[in-house]
Amino acid sequence: MRVLVIGSGAREHALVLAVAEDPSVTAIACAPGNAGTSAVAEQLGVDAIDPDAVTALAKDWKADLVVVGPEVPLVAGVADGVRKAGIACFGPSAAAARIEGSKAFAKDVMAVANVPTAHCEVVDNPAHLDAALGRFGPTWVVKDDGLAAGKGVVVTTDFDVARKHALMLLDGGHPVLLESFLDGPEASLFCFVDGRTVVPLLPAQDFKRVGDGDAGPNTGGMGAYAPLPWTPPGFVDEVVETVVRPVVDELVARGSSFSGLLYAGLALTSDGTQVIEFNCRFGDPETQVVLALLRSPLGKLLHATATGKLAEHPELDWEDGAAVTVVIAADGYPGKPRTGDVITGGELEGVLHAGTRRRDDGAVVSSGGRVLSVVGVGKNLKAARKQAYATVERVHLAGSHHRTDIALRAAKGEIATPVA
Ligand code: AMP
Ligand code: GLY
Repeated sequence: MRVLVIGSGAREHALVLAVAEDPSVTAIACAPGNAGTSAVAEQLGVDAIDPDAVTALAKDWKADLVVVGPEVPLVAGVADGVRKAGIACFGPSAAAARIEGSKAFAKDVMAVANVPTAHCEVVDNPAHLDAALGRFGPTWVVKDDGLAAGKGVVVTTDFDVARKHALMLLDGGHPVLLESFLDGPEASLFCFVDGRTVVPLLPAQDFKRVGDGDAGPNTGGMGAYAPLPWTPPGFVDEVVETVVRPVVDELVARGSSFSGLLYAGLALTSDGTQVIEFNCRFGDPETQVVLALLRSPLGKLLHATATGKLAEHPELDWEDGAAVTVVIAADGYPGKPRTGDVITGGELEGVLHAGTRRRDDGAVVSSGGRVLSVVGVGKNLKAARKQAYATVERVHLAGSHHRTDIALRAAKGEIATPVA
């Protein structure tokens, strides 16, 4: 099987490495890829958000399976284009990708499917903003209705900060979503979905804020770990039954059935598990830890999902133990990142590449905000942390920053789920 992976982050590097280990995979390409993927996969150029360009590339390269990593191409209809050309594609149609592409659509699906989520209001007229803000608080959650790479959200106890962010979004012509604040630890649950069949992966936790102790602004994700030792027994099955399956069925009922990876972002609140958001693709950086623990051959699994054969697939096989990933970000991230700095240690075991490229002289340099995602695996979270941070110490990128507390509280047994 010839597999073409679309995207250029550490998630795609993790996907390419896992697919490469599957004996049924005979060739792998990644487009546009990065300096890390180019060491394992053929590197092809493409405008990843152009359905015609991706489809032409998939035909030209004779792909048997196209795996679309990021959300922007999916929302733009890349999977529709590829499937129309008769090539199997892992990733939902544009219609189903609206579960991530439009928060208002996701809220409507959840309301009809009776899935617990934060109460929300959409504001599209600045004249209505103050009254709407008055109905929320004392912690305000202000979101961009469209795709914003995790950075369109402000969670604050400061009314003026909430108002300023909402006005900034409205000024830019974006409707604003106000939400009630969900307290409690967060979990990400990824599920393979082939239309109707749902197969959950291990739950993971992402660290959204830029600084230690959850200080500073939201980012695309600064680190992650899996599995989650603090979740209650039966957690995954409960989420599948109360959250994922109802949404999958509702999408079928709307004629836009979901095929690919459905990502439920959850908060374990004192009122039970509630949905923060859905994503229509593998999460980054959680994928780096979930795939580090998956033993089942990934190429076959993605193909079975893409072709509606998940029900026939054997049960997933996992490593015992835990995985931790630490993101190394460029100076300035999550604001405008400094790029072009030379990276050393990028070839070390466990180092996945995101914003990197190979310069003409062969040096690997930074080319984005999140530059590397360093993965450690061990018999428990403590051991996995130790391995990840030992590798982080051996990597060098001028001006870079990373969090030092990824999985720390979980490793110490300090995370508790609230009781009702
Ligand atoms: P989103 O872009 O919806 O994924 O939100 C990004 C992050 O903002 C989430 O991972 C949460 O940490 C936080 N967040 C979003 N919505 C809420 C909410 N209703 N209550 C508390 N935190 C939230
Ligand atoms: N880990 C958060 C995301 O992929 O959106």
